[in-house]
Amino acid sequence: MEAVIGKPMDRVDGRAKVTGAARFSTEPPVQGASHGVIVQSTIARGKITAIDSASVERLPGVLGVMTHLNAPKIKPPTPNFMTGGIFAESRLPLSDDQIHHAGQHIAVVVATTLEQAKHAAAMLKVTYAAETPVVSMDDPAAKVVSPPDFFGEKLQDGRGDIEAAFADDNSVIFSATYTTPPGSHNPMEVSNTTAVWEEEKLTVYDSTQWLSGTAAVLAEAFGVPRTNVRVICPYVGGGFGCKGFIWPHTLLAAMAARLTGRPVKLVLSRAQQFTSCGHRPATRQVVSLAATKAGKLTGIRHLVDATGQAVSQYVEPAAMGTSRLVYDVPNVRFTHNVRQVDIASPTFMRAPGEAPGTFALECAMDELAYALEVDPLQLRLANLPREKAPHSGLPWSSYHLDECLTQAAEKFGWAKRDPAVKSMREGRLMIGQGLAVATFPGSKFGGACKVRLFGDGRLLVSTAAHDLGTGAYTAFTQIAAHEMGIAVERVRVEMGDSNLPPGPIAGGSCSTATVSQMIHAAVASLKKKLSQAATSMADSPLKGLKLEEMEMDGEGVRAKGDASRRVTIAEIVTNSGKSAIEADGTAMPGAEMGAYAFHSFGAQFVEVAIDPLDPRVQVRRCVAMFDAGRIVNSKLAYSQLAGGIVWGIGMALTEETHWDHRTGRCTTDNLADYAVAVNADIPKIDVMWTDKPDPHFNPLGVRGIGEIGITGVAAAIGNAVYHATGVRVRDLPIVPGRLV
Ligand code: MOS
Repeated sequence: MEAVIGKPMDRVDGRAKVTGAARFSTEPPVQGASHGVIVQSTIARGKITAIDSASVERLPGVLGVMTHLNAPKIKPPTPNFMTGGIFAESRLPLSDDQIHHAGQHIAVVVATTLEQAKHAAAMLKVTYAAETPVVSMDDPAAKVVSPPDFFGEKLQDGRGDIEAAFADDNSVIFSATYTTPPGSHNPMEVSNTTAVWEEEKLTVYDSTQWLSGTAAVLAEAFGVPRTNVRVICPYVGGGFGCKGFIWPHTLLAAMAARLTGRPVKLVLSRAQQFTSCGHRPATRQVVSLAATKAGKLTGIRHLVDATGQAVSQYVEPAAMGTSRLVYDVPNVRFTHNVRQVDIASPTFMRAPGEAPGTFALECAMDELAYALEVDPLQLRLANLPREKAPHSGLPWSSYHLDECLTQAAEKFGWAKRDPAVKSMREGRLMIGQGLAVATFPGSKFGGACKVRLFGDGRLLVSTAAHDLGTGAYTAFTQIAAHEMGIAVERVRVEMGDSNLPPGPIAGGSCSTATVSQMIHAAVASLKKKLSQAATSMADSPLKGLKLEEMEMDGEGVRAKGDASRRVTIAEIVTNSGKSAIEADGTAMPGAEMGAYAFHSFGAQFVEVAIDPLDPRVQVRRCVAMFDAGRIVNSKLAYSQLAGGIVWGIGMALTEETHWDHRTGRCTTDNLADYAVAVNADIPKIDVMWTDKPDPHFNPLGVRGIGEIGITGVAAAIGNAVYHATGVRVRDLPIVPGRLV
């Protein structure tokens, strides 16, 4: 058998996607479905004093108007990350007349057709008692909170003696403030839910990164057994974190279906998407570095302020994900304050924490390199924590950042760079080169899968996991074929249905790391069952052999090294009297998590060109190298990692969600005003990886690759812009106005 792991296999669902055969969650025909349209608050703070539902209820096709006055009562679900689900806000939708942000869902109009529902929703008259909202993090009226931890990790922490590090007269000290604006996930497929009640059974078609979590939240909210709720989502048109936890619209669709006695299909508009499913909050980060004159770091202080919401627990862990662990430095102090504002709740967005955090830390490192007059690459290499993770003291399971930095530098041609600012020109164009470190933890969660081997040799893998468009169906197909020792053509992976064994949330870059371990366990159990069945068959040529004296060869079970003594899969299945031999596999983070630190790192190198007469930053080249464990599929991996870099270019140069400072309304609620990077912004992107299996993380040695790609990119670009122009931009995005 030719090795299948690492091969650039085409997507198994590619044909279905391009022919339209792949059914996303708005597409399955639902008998008698009506349409729900959300009405959102136009004020950002205050309360509703009246809603004129009656006149809208009389409009053609209207089946119901659901507001806080008549909505079915639901219960708050228990947040449980490993086994349950998490509702993204602490306030249940339509639970009272209070308004916490513009765009808050205040009514759902249900009608026979979408047009009728949209028309009626537009006609709904709402009267408010408005108060002045707090919109900016600089508003002194913003309540400041300092949560102690976030998903079990300390937000206000450090090590060593930070005051002493900064008091040392021999140290070179650098300190600056960096800001990153709010950003919005914009998956091609907007969030949507179709809810169908049959008596006390609820079926939901939902675009989600967490089937099991959605099912758990719905069951608890409506007080029905978990087995009564089925969530279906075989394809997702992108998530990036905005479909990770469960947002109000999902509950509202099920509530509206209850209220009207009809299935309700509820699809957010693109504009609504900006205020309904989270965003990356704004940050202000003060980074202070202390170093010896020789360039050895002695202290890092990283103080983060980020916007947040009173009805949300989310904190952008910008320092926790970066300054805590990237460098070998004895004295560290970091804090995270949330400044509560009256805008929609923030949430996880691709590399939450690391994306804004690396902008601050890695720009500061570049500034320190100039202050010390050392090469920015050498400054990194002189401060890497090669032996162990600085924050936990645990040995790295696998650490190869040196290799990423040096090999990417080589490929990029860093040695040819003239370090002086404004030194590289091409005619009128100012050329700059910059680098930054990329970082993302190796995470995995729990989950279960079932494998079935049929008499004809086909293997079916079933799990309620997800393919967000990342290629998970394909990667899992390769993993199952590899574990079973059969051709990929014989494997089929089914996902996207909460009735399947519970898979992990597709978040935190954990899917492949977790699911590969589940498949490994299931196939190991299946092989054992096959061997046992093979020896116990009447007249078996394997009679009396112990498990370790047999092996699988893809077609059957045979005596080790003796193909003449063999029982085929077909014989085993036929003899079983069933259609397939099946086995279950589970994965849970275990003792390894306390024995090693699992982490991915990388190096980002970019070159920019800037025309001083039209100072738009053009990224001309990107070279990146990542150490992210074993790579399962080189084609998909390139797409994930380069895709992350594309996001990083958008973050650096164009993306910014604006809220009107007077009204608190999102003013960039469309893809024209919220400018994502387009083809003209994207150069050739070179991506390399170490492909070193992580020896302790899971059987295959894979860590995730969905998020690390974006980290460090904005800093590398900011550093290159400084090199080109001598202008240090510490506030993203780097739009032309910041360069003149
Ligand atoms: Mo990711 S931001 O954990 O979907």
